Amino acid sequence: MTDYLSNYLFEWCELLVLWLHVIAGIAWIGASFYFVWLDDHLEPASGPEPLDAGVAGELWAVHGGGFYRSRKYRVAPERLPPTLHWFYWEAYTTWISGFALLCLLYFREANIYLIDPAVMALSKFAAIGIALGVIVANWVVYDGLCRSALGRKPKWLAVAIALMSVVDAWGLCHVFSGRGAFMVFGASLGTIMVANVLFVIIPGQRELVRAKQEGREVDPQPGLRGKQRSRHNTYFTLPVLFVMISGHFAMTYGARANWLVLLAMSFAGACIRGWFVARHKPEGRHGLKAALPAAFAAVTLVCLIVALAPANRLVVARGMASAPVPTGSAIMAIVHKRCAPCHSATPSAKFGFASPPLGIVFANLHDLRVRRTEVEAMLASDTMPPGDVTGLTQQERTEILTWITQRGKK
Ligand code: HEC
Repeated sequence: MTDYLSNYLFEWCELLVLWLHVIAGIAWIGASFYFVWLDDHLEPASGPEPLDAGVAGELWAVHGGGFYRSRKYRVAPERLPPTLHWFYWEAYTTWISGFALLCLLYFREANIYLIDPAVMALSKFAAIGIALGVIVANWVVYDGLCRSALGRKPKWLAVAIALMSVVDAWGLCHVFSGRGAFMVFGASLGTIMVANVLFVIIPGQRELVRAKQEGREVDPQPGLRGKQRSRHNTYFTLPVLFVMISGHFAMTYGARANWLVLLAMSFAGACIRGWFVARHKPEGRHGLKAALPAAFAAVTLVCLIVALAPANRLVVARGMASAPVPTGSAIMAIVHKRCAPCHSATPSAKFGFASPPLGIVFANLHDLRVRRTEVEAMLASDTMPPGDVTGLTQQERTEILTWITQRGKK
């Protein structure tokens, strides 16, 4: 099979697996948000029919043209119903497709997506090994923390998990390219979320069901353990979703202190989720206390917006104003050598693209002018070429930037 054909087929694989990943993720997170919301909106049972013993609360809803009535039992119902619905395939499918994408993109094209020689010159093999090691180690440490004595002190446990994230973010951003580091961070959190479902929440539910079937006294402990993990999952969700879209925003992963950006966005995400959870509760629907996490998130985001403002870039541009402006043909020569291997109508098969990334082609100066802002952002933040695979020199980077700022508008 020619390189072109195999790259083309890989691109289809990527598209289909990504499609599946997004769909499964929506189903999983949708159901998970729904159940958190449901739990927090339960009210003491009301209505004409008598309720079973052991009902903790109920909720009425209208949706899609029908009325629904959900009830939650304190531990378990008197008798198990003939059909009991479970929720886990959404989570497993999200992880399996996510891991497949990690392999297809970040591992197969580690030189482009995972490794940045300016951060650390890793072999492909070492980079993949470290990424997998970090993902597994994070789960082992997190699970250990939850099972330790700390697990009974939710606040201290939260502090420990936050510390673990700081170490992760800092460490990963000092080993991988910004984009790769963000993705491994998100993949680790996502793996913890799915492992919580697989190893704690579902086994706990199976134990509840088994005890009921065998007529044993139901031990609430496994249920409570599952509740703790699903509470964690809810706070991990927004940070993970940020990472999954961060690849489109070089200003985040390409920032100089990108590990701080990652932590700040994760903190803001967890706070925003916390705000929703607090608002769901009857006591949080009025008053200001529930809005506190929202205020934290807003302050964090404003700080980030200010901190990432392209002031440095403008200073660079002003500094360059005195330098001689390179000629257009000199610029095209650089672009031809350093950018066109990927950004052309027929990219070099060596880098695994069957079509130009994001459809961006730099065939002439006009193409550069049209994408002036993005090109400037990419070059000023050192994120393009990814993994510096075409060896753009600092001199060439400055030349393109000088040309873009001086002649790019005309
Ligand atoms: C090894 C392949 C490769 C090379 C070489 C390369 N790029 Fe890219 N470029 C990419 C990929 C992949 C993306 C898409 C990133 C994504 O998925 O969001 C991209 C995206 C871009 C974008 C759009 C960014 C955005 O999100 O809006 C710009 C602008 C860009 N490249 C400019 C350049 C310039 C200028 C050069 C040469 C100095 C260059 N690229 C060299 C692979 C490459």
